[in-house]
Amino acid sequence: MQTESQTESLEKEIQAAEHPRELAVDVMAAIQARDGYLSDAGVAEAAGLLGMSPVEIEELATFYTFIYREPVGRYVIHICDSVVCWMEGAETIGEHLMKALGIRMGETTPDGLFTLLPVCCIGYCDRAPAILINKKAYGPLTIGELDRIIDGLRNSDDANEAAAEAANPKKQVLKR
Ligand code: FES
Repeated sequence: MQTESQTESLEKEIQAAEHPRELAVDVMAAIQARDGYLSDAGVAEAAGLLGMSPVEIEELATFYTFIYREPVGRYVIHICDSVVCWMEGAETIGEHLMKALGIRMGETTPDGLFTLLPVCCIGYCDRAPAILINKKAYGPLTIGELDRIIDGLRNSDDANEAAAEAANPKKQVLKR
């Protein structure tokens, strides 16, 4: 979660930057860290902070795999579908995850805990089949290991916190 001091330091960086647009990805990531995803309002906010148009921000956001334009779950699982992982069984991993979580690729579980997304090669080909969960790499995966990872996440403090937040939603306000 983005803190106020991180936000202030980012705003100072923008003010000091010769070309603020170079910080566009950092700004989008900061807004996403605060809000959980980059909403239309977040796009407008980033545009305002950087002196860019919302369309320019939108184009950049679309380009970056890890900027989410739709709400995502507490744990975002990116399944590598590039060639090495595919040869090592990525399809089986993806199918198992969809079945275990009861969602299809691109969807989020109703409890808001997991989102499944594909990703191109993440640079862990030597650990294929590999996935990222909140940007942490796991692999080479077997179905048993995958089940252990998912069970561990389901029973984590973070998951309990997510359930509590879902029951009592509150929104943090970015200091401006
Ligand atoms: S092909 Fe999957 S990590 Fe490279």
